[in-house]
Amino acid sequence: MNKEFNVDDVRLQFPILAEKVYKKNLIYLDNGATTQKPLAVIDVYDNVYRKVNANIHRGVHHLSNVCTDLYEKARQIVARHLNAADSSEIVFTRNTTESINLVAYAYGDKFVGPGDEIVVSEMEHHSNIVPWQLLCQRRGAKLLVAKVSDHGELDMGQLAGLLSERTRIVSIAHVSNVMGSVNDVRTIVGMAHSVGAVAVIDAAQSVPHQAIDVQSIGCDFLAFSGHKVYAPLGSGALYGRRDLLNAMNPWMAGGEMIDKVSFAGTTFAEPPLKFEAGTPDYAAAIALGAALDYVDGIGMDVIEAHEASLVKRTLDGLLAIPGVRVIGQAENHASAVSFLVDSIHPYDAGMILDKLGIAVRTGHHCAQPLMDRFGIVGTVRASFALYNTADEVDALLNGVEWVKKMFS
Ligand code: ALA
Repeated sequence: MNKEFNVDDVRLQFPILAEKVYKKNLIYLDNGATTQKPLAVIDVYDNVYRKVNANIHRGVHHLSNVCTDLYEKARQIVARHLNAADSSEIVFTRNTTESINLVAYAYGDKFVGPGDEIVVSEMEHHSNIVPWQLLCQRRGAKLLVAKVSDHGELDMGQLAGLLSERTRIVSIAHVSNVMGSVNDVRTIVGMAHSVGAVAVIDAAQSVPHQAIDVQSIGCDFLAFSGHKVYAPLGSGALYGRRDLLNAMNPWMAGGEMIDKVSFAGTTFAEPPLKFEAGTPDYAAAIALGAALDYVDGIGMDVIEAHEASLVKRTLDGLLAIPGVRVIGQAENHASAVSFLVDSIHPYDAGMILDKLGIAVRTGHHCAQPLMDRFGIVGTVRASFALYNTADEVDALLNGVEWVKKMFS
């Protein structure tokens, strides 16, 4: 652990963490759903509206140029953060969902045809299932599903058996939003490429928790949301390999994505602008750059180590409580921990924890096929961020004991 990392100092950067809930300290363990925002992000976002707001890529006037520069600098920060070869490989989107839909429509509609196959896994979030189901319906293709073991790990052997010369796209979560299982994406990308398929990585739950290097992973596309990595809502990005972005259809059509429009025909802008129709949420994108600068300033390895200690403490503590079932005990385990307490409904457990000031997510977590896989209706999920503490983990464990008592 980096000696300079002081979680108390970090917490001071997040004003909301000083809020009380039912007169108790807020213990925010719902970071998989969205993270809180540091002053470094709030101030940059605020500054856009106070000082520089003007529509980007359109004006000759000063503010428009300033705002355009900030937006394009944010794109460079995203590219640097993901180690993309060039910032033109970064398309700003609203979130992971939009990024995956963009690939499904703009790549899928052009390159997937009848009889082709797309591979996902049982642990995917709905946003990495439904866009592919709709693509299959549009194009007459078939969706195949890689299985998850009882431990919550991807069955790599069975996944290999699904791949063939018919596979066009393999789209897999880097980290399960429910179980925190970390998938070996480098190997999965290699498997996809060996049959000539493209590999899409849903990095919504990995970008906030570990360093990402798209060139080292070797993926063709990678999607993430800004709001899960301390940035404002409405910010997100798609990394796409330059040659693929060039070859793809446009998706949304409108202003700024064109080269020349006439009633005789329209030509399109080069990527990434080809995929950024309409006025984007440039304030959110600029603040996303600030958020990535903020986490890079701390160090993703430092954040990963801090959160790993919280996950271990949580898992050890939960497994020591009789009647607690942890859903997902993968060897390689990132920020989310899902569990059930005796036969208590997750909503009931979540409501009691809430009364103790502890915010967790309960339910199916937009991963109903995974719930079906485990034969459960939902889980209680604690998900961590860099500002969480060992004391908060202990409060959660005490809270779980309290839940048990209330129902005994
Ligand atoms: N996808 C987010 C979650 O897992 C909302 O909570």
